[in-house]
Amino acid sequence: MQSRPFGQHDFVTSEIGFGAWAIGGSWGAQADPDSLAALHRALDLGVNFLDTAAGYGNGRSEKLIAQVLRERAAAGQKGKIFVATKTPPAPGAWPPSPYDRAEDRYSETYLRENLAERCAHLGTDRLDLLQLHTWTRAWNRDPTPFKILRELQREGRIGLIGLSTPEHDQNCVIDLMRGGWVDAVQVIYNLFEQEPAAELLDVAQACGVAIIVRVAFDEGALTGKFTAATKFAPDDFRAAYFSGDRLPRCITRANAIQHDLIGTGYTLPQAALKWVLAHPAVSVVIPGIRNVAQAEANCAVSDLPAMPEKLVHRLHRHNWRRGVWYGGK
Ligand SMILES: NC(=O)c1ccc[n+]([C@@H]2O[C@H](COP(=O)([O-])OP(=O)(O)OC[C@H]3O[C@@H](n4cnc5c(N)ncnc54)[C@H](OP(=O)(O)O)[C@@H]3O)[C@@H](O)[C@H]2O)c1
Repeated sequence: MQSRPFGQHDFVTSEIGFGAWAIGGSWGAQADPDSLAALHRALDLGVNFLDTAAGYGNGRSEKLIAQVLRERAAAGQKGKIFVATKTPPAPGAWPPSPYDRAEDRYSETYLRENLAERCAHLGTDRLDLLQLHTWTRAWNRDPTPFKILRELQREGRIGLIGLSTPEHDQNCVIDLMRGGWVDAVQVIYNLFEQEPAAELLDVAQACGVAIIVRVAFDEGALTGKFTAATKFAPDDFRAAYFSGDRLPRCITRANAIQHDLIGTGYTLPQAALKWVLAHPAVSVVIPGIRNVAQAEANCAVSDLPAMPEKLVHRLHRHNWRRGVWYGGK
């Protein structure tokens, strides 16, 4: 497993991290023993960065991570494992409406209570990285929630402060990075969604902000395993994400990428991760991992040869301006 600096911060991250959404819920049936085995295997293979959130199964994902950390500590396994979690805004529109007030969605009382809950779930009294789970550009002019988080950082309750971009307006983080409000940004950047390469990634690098890349597989489309016959369980959010004609459109696009990979030695999932890692601003890519086989396949990608620049450029043509799908049809 190769490693990289986490922005300008005092932490060196594994290139591949563990995306822990699906082990919490919303992705159809998921057995906890599979999740625990996947976490242990990934950590054994050199992963030292885990990404979770309050909302991943209402704490289920965080508690599984806490269990694994306890088990490893009890077994005498040493080495820093960095856990990033997320605080959602108080109930309301997701992502927040431009008319929402930051003090209603991320008040100081709420942030302090939520931080305490995150710590309780994760079995710690200090978080390595707390990310606000979403945002609206409307709050950039007076980013009070980040002022509160900086205070919590001074109090020693949080190591680093981050933001996970709202899908419809990822570039809203640019002003926040330039303003010094965030230490890390979690962004969608993949073979279909290449817009962060326009500015966001370069600004992060210039500002020493760590970049965590989520959804490198476009929720599975960029693994190339979907076919016209693929069906998602009703409790799998992908039933909405890939609803209507979206699945066949993704399959056609994924096939076109696979065509460009012929003779390169990369499978599509390998290329999906390697292409993301080819950008020097990226600290860590966090594929979602549900089982041991996925932990092994994704961790192994780090040690494959870096993607040749010519192929990185060739794959630029698969940039797809398709709009935002997370709200469903
Ligand atoms: N707003 C936010 O902050 C936000 C939103 C989304 C995600 N995230 C974070 O980013 C992480 C990654 O995103 P994601 O999990 O949504 O999607 P993703 O990484 O694009 O896709 C992950 C899914 O692909 C499948 N998979 C994984 N490895 C594979 C492999 N080697 N070969 C074939 N299939 C494989 C698994 O699903 P199946 O086995 O079911 O096919 C897995 O759950 C999340 O876990 C979460 O930590 C954050």
